[in-house]
Amino acid sequence: MSNRLNVTPNDLRAFWMPFTANRQFKKNPRMFVGAKDMHYTTADGRQVLDGTAGLWCVNAGHCRPRITEAIAKQAGELDYAPAFQMGHPKAFELANRLADLSPDGLDHVMFTNSGSESVDTALKTALAYHRAKGDGARFRLIGRERGYHGVNFGGISVGGIVPNRKMFGTLLTGVDHLPHTHLPGENAFSRGEPKHGSNLADELERICGLHDPSTIAAVIVEPVAGSTGVLIPPKGYLQRLREICDKHGILLIFDEVITGYGRMGAPFGADYFGVKPDMMTTAKGLTNGVIPMGAVFVTDEIHDAFMQGPEHMIEFFHGYTYSGNPISSAAGLATLETYREEGLFDRAAELAPYWEDALHSLKDARYVIDIRNIGLIGAIELEPIAGQPTKRAFSAFVRAYEKGCLIRTTGDIIALSPPLIIEKQHIDQIVSTIRETLEEVD
Ligand SMILES: Cc1ncc(COP(=O)(O)O)c(C=O)c1O
Repeated sequence: MSNRLNVTPNDLRAFWMPFTANRQFKKNPRMFVGAKDMHYTTADGRQVLDGTAGLWCVNAGHCRPRITEAIAKQAGELDYAPAFQMGHPKAFELANRLADLSPDGLDHVMFTNSGSESVDTALKTALAYHRAKGDGARFRLIGRERGYHGVNFGGISVGGIVPNRKMFGTLLTGVDHLPHTHLPGENAFSRGEPKHGSNLADELERICGLHDPSTIAAVIVEPVAGSTGVLIPPKGYLQRLREICDKHGILLIFDEVITGYGRMGAPFGADYFGVKPDMMTTAKGLTNGVIPMGAVFVTDEIHDAFMQGPEHMIEFFHGYTYSGNPISSAAGLATLETYREEGLFDRAAELAPYWEDALHSLKDARYVIDIRNIGLIGAIELEPIAGQPTKRAFSAFVRAYEKGCLIRTTGDIIALSPPLIIEKQHIDQIVSTIRETLEEVD
């Protein structure tokens, strides 16, 4: 093995960390070595309250016995089965449970290993669906400014996060973007869905006018944009997008990677907002974040459009070595059972008003210029330091961690998404830690 880096076992240089300020981290590492329920344990033995469910994924809390036992059992029973032309019962069982959970009609599931893969799977499915129906002129994909759809080429092309896009050349062609829906002037400190801005959905008509709707395959949006700082759709906005898509035969894809699996007190964002998309991309909470897995839900109509031609032929040239692998499937089943048994989606809905009041109590805290919330999602937007965007929020993140609370920041926004097992006293702790932290940072 090459030893060019002269790596020692505890050397931090070899691991190029994802979406991390690597040099800052490696000078002053923040390491977790254990976790249970609402808390992480740090390498120096401190307890840190998880205000972010890991990365929006550990919805049932950490190291839940039903899930860890299911994984161990499955690993000893059937570790792997080829995903292509072979099957194993748990993948089918999980797909059925998911079809039961999803909005009516979204009854077919393709498995992936991440949110990014779910998104690229859905975009490819949209293009292929129109072709399968003999409508190959529909090649355009429409995303949204400030949308996040993972890091693969399809996802960054339809996504609207500037640093994710600017490094990578031309990306996919035939992509256009809706404007984002963040209107701080009109909607600052809104509770839940903001009042103003549903008319921004009409921009889709403008885009249709520019390209001709017959060239557009699909529109993809997050029901609530998470990674760009919790941008909640204005009342009526998603309904209007649905209407325009229906009018023009365009597929509507909801990227539910963070809104899926109870985050808003309903199984999916589609349920919460009462708007049914043609596809939903999911990952994260599907396995409680414990093991990589994603799922893409499609309508019967999309699925059935592919089921033609000779029966020995593969209908869709797409899939991953690990699609629906036994261990992820076992983890998914145990996760859904944990959510059901503990009524965690209802619990999230019940706690949402307390969460909302607690977050909005920070309105008078130092630097706070906006607060947004929906379900068990929250955002506290800070006034940036002039000429040094992101610095204040990053300092707050580090300070809050030192004070025993894990928050997440994006730009100058603190984003919160705790496990759904959170107790009121934990909510109070998150809020008081943020208040103190903001007093202490520049
Ligand atoms: C809406 C959305 N889509 C896609 C992704 C990408 O998921 P992954 O990191 O599992 O590839 C994320 C991750 O945060 C997300 O929030």
